Amino acid sequence: MRRKMAAGNWKMNGLKSSLAELEKLARAHPTASCDLLICPPATLLCAAATTCGNSAIRIGGQTCHEATSGAHTGDISAQMLRDAGATAVILGHSERRQDHDERSEDVRLLAQSAQSAGLQTVICVGESLFQRDATNTLDIIGAQLSLSIPDSSTGENLVVAYEPVWAIGSGLTPTTDQIGEVHDFMRARLEQRFGYGVGKSVRLLYGGSVKPANAAEIFAISNVDGALVGGASLKADDFAPIIAALE
Ligand code: G3P
Repeated sequence: MRRKMAAGNWKMNGLKSSLAELEKLARAHPTASCDLLICPPATLLCAAATTCGNSAIRIGGQTCHEATSGAHTGDISAQMLRDAGATAVILGHSERRQDHDERSEDVRLLAQSAQSAGLQTVICVGESLFQRDATNTLDIIGAQLSLSIPDSSTGENLVVAYEPVWAIGSGLTPTTDQIGEVHDFMRARLEQRFGYGVGKSVRLLYGGSVKPANAAEIFAISNVDGALVGGASLKADDFAPIIAALE
């Protein structure tokens, strides 16, 4: 049985005052029957780790650099994320792929570095609307999976998030059949590459306009092990019912 997971990606949102929301969430979840992860902006990592204290919530970064240290102004290494209290990192989010020209080959290097530093990697894949309309979705996802995921991946250090680019922040979600098709495909690909045991144990999250109102329906889809949530992870009152739908 895979342990379910609810992950929140705060993206470039959150000031020190936002930690009150995290504190509320942490107080409500001293323990949890699923994994809980919040990825705040880098400026809040240390404070967020302290805020979560001994609660069930873990803290993650939103990207990292492939090198461990050096002359890379503005970048953060996986080791630094660990040092700040993170246990995980989101990599290859479509906003990084778009805004920073990250290719799947780059994502793989970042993931290698993060996994070597002992971080769990949440690797994102997803098609654009143009690609879906051209019926290229599975080809795109297949290529992103094979190029972005390092060979060093295991059931513990790898989580894959399927985030259709057109569903992110748009209020649009794929049908349950469309999500199921991609998740079943990803599971089969992972089993093919890493063997049945590892392939079966990697958690597959869905991301893109997940809200309290649609969470239960999405979590009922086969091979959906949880969600990577953007907007609805910013407020404890929105994120808590999503967690409850998973528990
Ligand atoms: O990484 C989470 C994300 O891209 C989904 O964002 O706001 O549609 O839940 P949102």
